[in-house]
Amino acid sequence: MNILLLGSGGREHALAWKLAQSSLCEKLYAAPGNPGVAQHAECVALDVTDHGAVIAFCDARAIGLVVVGPEAPLVDGLADSLRGAGVPVFGPSKAAAQLEGSKGFTKDLCARANIPTGGYERVSSEAAAMAALAKFGAPVVIKADGLAAGKGVTVAMTMAEAEAAVQDIFAGRFGEAGAEAVIEEFLEGEEASFFALTDGATILAFASAQDHKRVGEGDTGPNTGGMGAYSPARVLTPELEAEAMTRIIAPTVKTLADEGMPYSGVLFLGLMLTKTGPQLIEYNARFGDPECQVMLMRLESDLAELLLACAENRLGSVQPPKFSPDVALTVVMAGEGYPGEPKKGGLIQGLAEAEAGGAKVFHAGTKLGDDGALLANGGRVLNVTARGASVSEAQTKAYAAVDALTAPDLFCRRDIGWREVAREHEA
Ligand code: AMP
Ligand code: GLY
Repeated sequence: MNILLLGSGGREHALAWKLAQSSLCEKLYAAPGNPGVAQHAECVALDVTDHGAVIAFCDARAIGLVVVGPEAPLVDGLADSLRGAGVPVFGPSKAAAQLEGSKGFTKDLCARANIPTGGYERVSSEAAAMAALAKFGAPVVIKADGLAAGKGVTVAMTMAEAEAAVQDIFAGRFGEAGAEAVIEEFLEGEEASFFALTDGATILAFASAQDHKRVGEGDTGPNTGGMGAYSPARVLTPELEAEAMTRIIAPTVKTLADEGMPYSGVLFLGLMLTKTGPQLIEYNARFGDPECQVMLMRLESDLAELLLACAENRLGSVQPPKFSPDVALTVVMAGEGYPGEPKKGGLIQGLAEAEAGGAKVFHAGTKLGDDGALLANGGRVLNVTARGASVSEAQTKAYAAVDALTAPDLFCRRDIGWREVAREHEA
């Protein structure tokens, strides 16, 4: 089978690496890919907003499975177009992808299905938002309704911050994504992520992970797409996972199916582990980045087999995914300036040395220079990933690999995994 992978980040490098290992995969194409993806796939230029062009490519190359990495093409309905043309695709329909594409859609679904999540109000004007703020009081969370590249959420500790966030949204900072907003109860606890595969009927647990969203050590400073992650997330005990499955994932999948928009693909749950149990913070309609990298480092099953079974609505016919009991941890190396304007073009050397000890360096934002040299080309540039029997061991190996790299224009946090490392030291 020929497979087409869409996307260009570290998540897609990890997906390409794993898909290429599958006995089902004859030829892997990626659009647009990156120099890391290109180690495993033929990278092609395709405009994913031109659904006709993607379908034509699939016909011409006899593509048996399309794997959509990022959310934007899903929210844009690419999976519907491909399914309509008879091309199996891993990723939800436009209707089901509203779980990520509209915060208000998800909150309303939680209300209909009695899924534990923070109290909320949907608002579509500044005045309505201000009235809602007055009811909730601080701390409070303000979210632009639509896709805002991870920047649409403000956790406001004071009313002044909350009001500024509302003004920002309704002044048009997020364009269409901010035509509506959700004002939400502030939830307290530790965050963890959980991933499940579903074809709309069968649900298979995938894995858990925790990431570090803040740019600075000790989880300080501005939010980013994620500065590092590890899997599994031990705080998400088997009991809590089972609770998330029965109280959150199963009713979500059932409600969407009952309402005529069955969800097919991976469900990415952001959970807050509160004193009263796990509550849903948000859904994403895709694998997390960099959570995908650490989960795939542990995956022992054939990824293409699982994703194809999802795409062909026969997830019940395959073995549930198997994972190594090892921990995997990834350190994101980012361009100086990230999450603001990152410095680009800096030389990266020493990848072979970094990988000599068993670590894996996934490319997130790299490019090849005219002379073939590897250059930084984005905010998040590399994901230096290692496995170990504990978080402490995986962390030591990942930082040894980081230290073997020569990349003067990149920086990383030196404390990825700190919560778990502290817990391991206490134990
Ligand atoms: P999101 O873009 O929805 O993932 O939100 C970004 C971050 O905001 C989350 O990872 C949480 O840290 C935080 N957050 C979102 N909603 C809440 C909430 N209701 N209570 C507390 N923190 C939240
Ligand atoms: N790392 C968080 C995300 O992929 O949304």
